Amino acid sequence: MTNIYVLETSPRDTSLSAELAQTFIAAFQETDKSATVTTRRLRDTALLSLEEGDISALRTQDGATTAQQEQAIALSDELITELEAADMVVIAAPFHNFTMTALMRQWLDYVVRPGKSFGYSADGPKGLLQDKPVIILSTRGGNYRPSAQDSLHPADFQTGYLRHIFGFMGLRSLSFIAANGMDMGPEAREAGLTEAKAEIDAVVSTLSHHLAPAA
Ligand SMILES: Cc1cc2nc3c(=O)[nH]c(=O)nc-3n(C[C@H](O)[C@H](O)[C@H](O)COP(=O)(O)O)c2cc1C
Repeated sequence: MTNIYVLETSPRDTSLSAELAQTFIAAFQETDKSATVTTRRLRDTALLSLEEGDISALRTQDGATTAQQEQAIALSDELITELEAADMVVIAAPFHNFTMTALMRQWLDYVVRPGKSFGYSADGPKGLLQDKPVIILSTRGGNYRPSAQDSLHPADFQTGYLRHIFGFMGLRSLSFIAANGMDMGPEAREAGLTEAKAEIDAVVSTLSHHLAPAA
């Protein structure tokens, strides 16, 4: 059985990236009918803006000294436990200001945590999470398809950053699926969604060989 963890990072109630995550899940469940889904919607999660004391409480082993710090540590523990419990992570990640949404940036403050998701050794930082497939569904208003010369569009500050920060925590098996042109009119949107769906099918096909139980 595959435990799929869906992280929705759009601030919008009707979110295209969340819809694409559902498309991905439906395709995956065709190959693994017993797969279970747990969803974390960041727009419904009380992600406090962390103040200096909260940040120290999260980033040292000294523990909480205020109720707000206790709350921040409890939420951080919960979010990290959710990531650890998953066999596969599916992230609905709209492109905002050429990178991730503010909600996703705040989520990272809670999960990238010394002693929990990464540690320092004499050789430098070490990711502490067990590697697992992480699928990032990136919806973009405009078009950031890479050119023949560049593997990434020069204004795509999302892909490289997410690859680095997840790798920092030990999560290296990332698949990026982009839906470009979502706000460029019906034709561009349709073309972007068609491309994204073809990529979803390709990623599901690869993953199902690794994760799904034998028939
Ligand atoms: C605050 C904000 C910033 C955005 N910045 C960008 C951007 O830099 N580039 C882009 O192509 N689209 C941008 N968009 C458009 C979204 O990426 C696009 O509408 C996407 O489909 C939203 O996905 P969602 O429905 O899951 O929220 C932005 C939208 C918002 C609300």
